[in-house]
Amino acid sequence: MPDVLFDQPRRPRRLRSSATLRASVREHVLFREDLIMPVFVDPNPATRREIPSMPGIFNLGFENLPAEIDRILENGIDKVILFGVPVQKDAVGSDTWHDHGIIQSATRMLKERWPELFVITDVCFCEYTTHGHCGVLGDDGRLLNDPTLANLQKQAVSHADAGADMVAPSGMIDGMIGAMRTALDEHGHTDTTIMSYAVKYASAFYGPFRDAVDSAPQSGDRKTYQMDPANAREALIEAELDFEQGADILMVKPALSYLDIIRTVRDRFDVPIAAYNVSGEYAMVKAAAANGWIDGDAVAKEMLLSMKRAGTDLILTYFARDLAPSLPSKR
Ligand code: PBG
Repeated sequence: MPDVLFDQPRRPRRLRSSATLRASVREHVLFREDLIMPVFVDPNPATRREIPSMPGIFNLGFENLPAEIDRILENGIDKVILFGVPVQKDAVGSDTWHDHGIIQSATRMLKERWPELFVITDVCFCEYTTHGHCGVLGDDGRLLNDPTLANLQKQAVSHADAGADMVAPSGMIDGMIGAMRTALDEHGHTDTTIMSYAVKYASAFYGPFRDAVDSAPQSGDRKTYQMDPANAREALIEAELDFEQGADILMVKPALSYLDIIRTVRDRFDVPIAAYNVSGEYAMVKAAAANGWIDGDAVAKEMLLSMKRAGTDLILTYFARDLAPSLPSKR
């Protein structure tokens, strides 16, 4: 008998001893269908501008959008979320509810050409207002909640009229889900799903996105509507309000620094949970990978897997298009 140096009968390494066993006991898997690809639409048809802080992600005009959508679909991604830059901004962001607004036009084009593509629209005002805030501003420069609700209703109905399968309000306006659900139903859009940016923090991780769509607030910040990163209990109140007002999916944003929040919201609410792997999270990985400091794809997958482990069902991520070919399908 060899000397027994270790007499514990349970040896966790045993289950790691072959690839077969490892795959057999694997608890979480990242699927293509978990991912949603953000797409930035520009009003100039000829635009094809790579966003400097987001390598591989482009601002695209209508001439260049089809090639990108083909690539996304060919790679195995079936859902996109659209963000737009309007031809003209104004004080209230009226492009957002015009029949020929940038998002309405893009949605119509996409649904006509690729009926199978699931189109989600971001419902907000910051890209469309001259002041860059997510709604109507009062004379004192503060965001007015209830007047913003009426505009959100117009925007949501207009997106649904254009063919959006899902609308995703991202402004953190109190009552936004109830207001939108009521308006959608009144206009016959009872099947249009709502994914609420229910728990959205005032985060420094949105920097590259604001450059991409020119949506940085011209004065002040978003701290009177987006949540304080220090707060966790408050996330449950936000999630509960949106759940009760009929949100079909609850989102937590950003994702990586808020895995605890994803887990808590998942444990409390029995609807699908989404996480937004935001622009700053993407940019960090890309920058480190470009320096040869990390293996970008491996790190990205590990990050997305951590979100699944935390309990998310869906992930909005700029990695979607490029990672999808190496991921399994649920279908
Ligand atoms: C607001 C909106 C933002 C993002 C998605 N929707 C920006 C903000 O709140 O400033 C950020 C997405 C990202 O950083 O990837 N319309």
